Amino acid sequence: MIESQVQAAIDQFEIKTEKLNEIVDFFVSEAAKGLAEDKPRTMPMIPTFVTKIPTGKEKGLFLAADLGGSNFRVCSVHLNGDSTHTMKQMKWAVPHEMMVGNADQFWKYLAERTHEFLDNYHLEEKNDHKDKDQKLSMGFTFSFPVHQTGINRGTLIRWTKGYDIKDAVGTDVCVAYQDALDAHGIPVHVASMVNDTVGCLLTRSYETGSNSQTVIGAILGTGSNAAYSDRIIRILKLDQYSEETKKQIEGKKVMIVNTEWGSFDNDLKILPNTQVDKEVNLETPNRDFHMFEKRVSGMFLGEIVRRTLEHLYSAKAIFTEAEIAKDSKFYSVWSNDSSFLSIVRADASNDLKDVGAQLAKLGVPQTTMEERKAVAALSHAIGLRSARLMASVLAGLLKKTRSFEKFDIVDIGVDGAVIEYYPHFEDMIREALREIDAIGPEKEKRITIGLSQDGSGIGGALSAAMTTH
Ligand code: BGC
Repeated sequence: MIESQVQAAIDQFEIKTEKLNEIVDFFVSEAAKGLAEDKPRTMPMIPTFVTKIPTGKEKGLFLAADLGGSNFRVCSVHLNGDSTHTMKQMKWAVPHEMMVGNADQFWKYLAERTHEFLDNYHLEEKNDHKDKDQKLSMGFTFSFPVHQTGINRGTLIRWTKGYDIKDAVGTDVCVAYQDALDAHGIPVHVASMVNDTVGCLLTRSYETGSNSQTVIGAILGTGSNAAYSDRIIRILKLDQYSEETKKQIEGKKVMIVNTEWGSFDNDLKILPNTQVDKEVNLETPNRDFHMFEKRVSGMFLGEIVRRTLEHLYSAKAIFTEAEIAKDSKFYSVWSNDSSFLSIVRADASNDLKDVGAQLAKLGVPQTTMEERKAVAALSHAIGLRSARLMASVLAGLLKKTRSFEKFDIVDIGVDGAVIEYYPHFEDMIREALREIDAIGPEKEKRITIGLSQDGSGIGGALSAAMTTH
């Protein structure tokens, strides 16, 4: 029997069907607001200036740089023109001091890593292009909210996922990276800048070719977000953009929109808000923003579990026999990785030994079977809440785009560690989709969900390819 206080902690993460439906409708109206006008606290719904979707036939060698979460990656992607590709890449963990340091230092760091990659894999091409006007073409996958004014222009709205380089906010990130590359004499032209969700959508479209219609690219990793394609006439706020900006899209019909749904319902009109959610928000540099993301994504799930356990322990509702050292991870903010939830979910042993091992890593040396069961139930409840919230915004976007009226099969490309590694995450999403009025069991069957692995790398290259095709 799970102790009643623990059970109450678990229950607060439950999201009933009725709530799912409310979130769907609220999402649809918030999306419309975001498309109509830019306001600091509304969902950004960013026009990306990507006006084409790949067909699978794109060809050639393109570079891609990818700054998403804690890693920076540079790759070269050879698009074979038949939905396949080959890739070379190097990856670095961005040092924490860079993530919260100053902008010049940061862009210099990225330029130096880019140089390192070229010297390693493309020395000949680098030397070849050094004195030519024609530089190597690169797509920059930059996975933070950027107010874009062109395919390779855009100012940083705010940092997310723990980054906090204050003097970069409000500056053009594409120009800053290009300037740093130029200062190092690196013959690379940043031809395009895309969000990772856009990369995911492009990659999935390239890989499935004309076989299916990918309508959404969604990420659930360190952060969460989605991109979809909309008719340009529906993106009302484009009207307020400068004439020069508007010229770039003359004659175009559709554009990919980066929703930045991490910032859906920043004012918490509808999202659940437990005591622990409130505390987690206070620990983040982007306080009171990205409130949806803070309930669903990898950066936060482990911390939500840890904090809930800490509260239960101090209320003497769990681990009553355990001596937990004050300097252990159990008491330390952000110390519990979200892999905790995946490992706990996957533990099928009779004595829940992996749950025990995860707790021991956290600093709880000994646990009873009852306690391990309670921790597993709590961790599942937090994972399930994330999946159900994801289902409701996906359903909102499908409703908004009227996808079921347009296509027989509605395809969603996904990427990110939570969706990839949390066992049965897709099943949990699908179960919620069946409960939602706007989807239901019939339409849910018409949805395909496919992992678009490495959408950030391939998608970056594809976006550069599409600027030349
Ligand atoms: C960022 C998005 C990004 C998402 C997934 C969020 O924190 O704001 O731009 O797409 O994380 O990486």
